[in-house]
Amino acid sequence: MTENSQPILTPQEQVMLAGKNGPAIQRAMEIVVALAKIYRAKRLVRVSSVQVAGVSYKNLGQAGLEFLQEWAAQGARVCVPTTLNPAGIDLVRWHALGFSQEFAIRQQAVIDAYASMGITPTCTCTPYLVGNQPRVRDHVAWAESSAVSFANSVLGARTNREGGPSALAAAICGRTAGYGLHLDLQRQAQYIVQVRCPLNTISDWGALGYLVGRLIQNNVPCFFLSEGPYTQPTDDPLAIPPLLDRLKSLGAALAASGAVALYHIDGITPEARQRNVVAPDAHHITIESLDQGYRALDGEPERVDLVSIGCPHASDNEIKAVAEAVQERTLKAALWVTTARETRERLAEYVLTIEKAGGQVIADTCMVVAPVEQLGFRVMATNSAKMATYTPSHSGLSVRFGSLEQCLGAAVTGRWTG
Ligand code: F3S
Repeated sequence: MTENSQPILTPQEQVMLAGKNGPAIQRAMEIVVALAKIYRAKRLVRVSSVQVAGVSYKNLGQAGLEFLQEWAAQGARVCVPTTLNPAGIDLVRWHALGFSQEFAIRQQAVIDAYASMGITPTCTCTPYLVGNQPRVRDHVAWAESSAVSFANSVLGARTNREGGPSALAAAICGRTAGYGLHLDLQRQAQYIVQVRCPLNTISDWGALGYLVGRLIQNNVPCFFLSEGPYTQPTDDPLAIPPLLDRLKSLGAALAASGAVALYHIDGITPEARQRNVVAPDAHHITIESLDQGYRALDGEPERVDLVSIGCPHASDNEIKAVAEAVQERTLKAALWVTTARETRERLAEYVLTIEKAGGQVIADTCMVVAPVEQLGFRVMATNSAKMATYTPSHSGLSVRFGSLEQCLGAAVTGRWTG
């Protein structure tokens, strides 16, 4: 870094910044270099993949759409594999689900703008389940806090929490500012979290994430688990589907109630298996019970009219579990399982079982970024702590928070049983 906090740029980067490779790349470099200056990064790092957020027209609005169209018209094209976060609607079945044509047209224009830049319109917050799976130590630039957490923590890749424009800029120039979680030292845990209660369900892991995120904000925790089926060291957490689902739930909740972008779990996550990841002066926290988390996230209403599963987007394992539970049942509440389109298509047989019971398996979107409040729902049940955290403020619905079993029970009866 030079005296005035300029990062050191390679000759190629200087050429890009000077506009000699065109205005679209110059604009991308200007954004990345500006961030490097703000965060006092010494240099830029090359990224191997990008996940872009800022896709739902509900959040982006007309100004956001025009910004994308203008950049695309300048010739912006991504130069690394780049995937996309959820949109505001199921891009195929929006009409049947009750979304307005006006919204759908604008949402499709957003997708078209991204696709014209070479971005794969995966429209999922779990890009790692549909082929965008970086390796340990890969530098990437991902937006979407739950995906960032998964990439850093479970895959051992390196990314800061990018915003929509900074992730897109990184995809266009292939670089990001080399600060924060791209650096070894910043990946040390500042908190040791001893967990002395069992973690049995996805919602338990979410409640834990919610509690710890609230306490430590944007710091890095290292969890030490003392009870439950996942306390044994494992070589590959991705190979154990129920563990994968729990880890994505934990990371999403940590990022939602705090701004945690990386966590370690002793003996389980890749960096914690390889070396001591705890800073010498780390603080200690002990979690004896998840009750406070459940109390904070779970509301009062007894009648439930919408059950939402798949935040972050449902894995194969979760869709199979839902299908098994609702098989040959008739649902009284709406059941929406959100997932990636690729997952929906791959699991067509299970999707059919859920839809025969009256549920929906919805691709491309989620209940936070979709305008669900316009569809008349009032009370949502979910097993996702992230969804329970955001729904009241984003969509105005009341929330019941509990296990998958409780949520599917509510889908069958239309009532919450505690
Ligand atoms: Fe994904 Fe939406 Fe949850 S983007 S993490 S399903 S809030």
